Amino acid sequence: MLLDISVLRYSKYTCLRLYNYIIMNILIIDGLIKSNGHTDKLLDKHIASLKASSITRIVLRDSNISHCTDCGGCGGSNGCIILDDMQKIFDASKLADYCIIASPVVFGNTTAYVQTALSRFQSMYNGDFSVLPKVGKLKKGAIIITAGGSGGGTEAVIKTMRLFLKMLNVSDIEIIANYNTDK
Ligand SMILES: Cc1cc2nc3c(=O)[nH]c(=O)nc-3n(C[C@H](O)[C@H](O)[C@H](O)COP(=O)(O)O)c2cc1C
Repeated sequence: MLLDISVLRYSKYTCLRLYNYIIMNILIIDGLIKSNGHTDKLLDKHIASLKASSITRIVLRDSNISHCTDCGGCGGSNGCIILDDMQKIFDASKLADYCIIASPVVFGNTTAYVQTALSRFQSMYNGDFSVLPKVGKLKKGAIIITAGGSGGGTEAVIKTMRLFLKMLNVSDIEIIANYNTDK
């Protein structure tokens, strides 16, 4: 599949304050099934509430990201050696101050796109963790989730997305949810 990584720049949101020079680079991991659905709308609303100088959105469904193949190439400090769009997540994460991950609930978990990409962080466990600087500084972030039902059983989704953000060195995570979207 073709690479589709949209890099949007919102210069009007660049904030210059006298003592605080705020430049927030936002990385969005878009794990949605489709655009223009409930999750997309919730994501847009959250992005609009942030003051961002740059937004990098990685649309997993349009990206070329392989599942971890357990090839073992990541031993030591190599990091993941599969050169596909996952490398763009690693690279964008180095510059990001704030990471968002978004997914609807699909059979009690995230979309498969999220889980496929998540598997690639195995390189950090298989290596000696010296690859951690690859994902950069400590960041804040958010989980965006929608569910057709009442939100019961969404623990697995939140756990999966928390783990994803943790691997990008994100702490201080807010959860933004919209349930009962199918009602
Ligand atoms: C394949 C599939 C599986 C789903 N599984 C669940 C589920 O387990 N629990 C739930 O509450 N909603 C489930 N839903 C409903 C979606 O989570 C809900 O419609 C969501 O808002 C869709 O997001 P979107 O409009 O951004 O695509 C499922 C929908 C699809 C298409």
